[in-house]
Amino acid sequence: MNLAIMASGRGSNAEAILHAVEQGTLTARVTALICDRGDAGALDVAYKHNVTSYVVPREQFASRQDQQERMLELLRAANTEFIALAGFNAILRPSILSEYPNRILNIHPSLLPAFGGGIAPEPQAEALRAGVKISGCTVHLVTAIVDAGPIVAQAAVPVMAKDTVESLSARILKQEHRIYPIALQWFATNHVTINHGNVSVDSGVSQALWPNNVR
Ligand code: GRF
Repeated sequence: MNLAIMASGRGSNAEAILHAVEQGTLTARVTALICDRGDAGALDVAYKHNVTSYVVPREQFASRQDQQERMLELLRAANTEFIALAGFNAILRPSILSEYPNRILNIHPSLLPAFGGGIAPEPQAEALRAGVKISGCTVHLVTAIVDAGPIVAQAAVPVMAKDTVESLSARILKQEHRIYPIALQWFATNHVTINHGNVSVDSGVSQALWPNNVR
């Protein structure tokens, strides 16, 4: 599977994906990392892992539409078959969405459908404000409605009484790094069925997500 990563920030999920590829647990080739900011840590991650990166900043284009048309050209040129949004902070426009139907994943730092919509660390802050006792992360397919596409995988973490946005985010991030490569591997190995907006994963592989004691 030719995988492109799109990122805007630090790049720790991009790094987890590239690490899984290097370990052989994700059988994909990362053919491009596309970034909408020239100062993103994700660009250093790409460099470190020998992945070609492209910076496509909003200010160099007349419109968001034009910016994403350029991204689409780059995706095509890299023979992209699948896209992982890894902290990509822009909403994908119909041109990219329609070219990759059910072929774009995102990771979000909450248990969707709770606390969708915001950019990290807003979802973690919202979870703390709401006083939930469990939070986590969600890998979902990307559709036109932000953070509302079919859910592929989730991991839960406890919310502790003394948690700050930073401590909760760090606990969630560990799970993001664990489940995102697993979910991508399900797609790389064709273990995913999508039926009326519901994702099911073959039971033999879906168990990889769970620790032994809760299976
Ligand atoms: C993560 O919390 C992810 O869930 C959210 O944005 C953050 C990206 O972090 N979509 P990183 O750039 O992968 O380190």
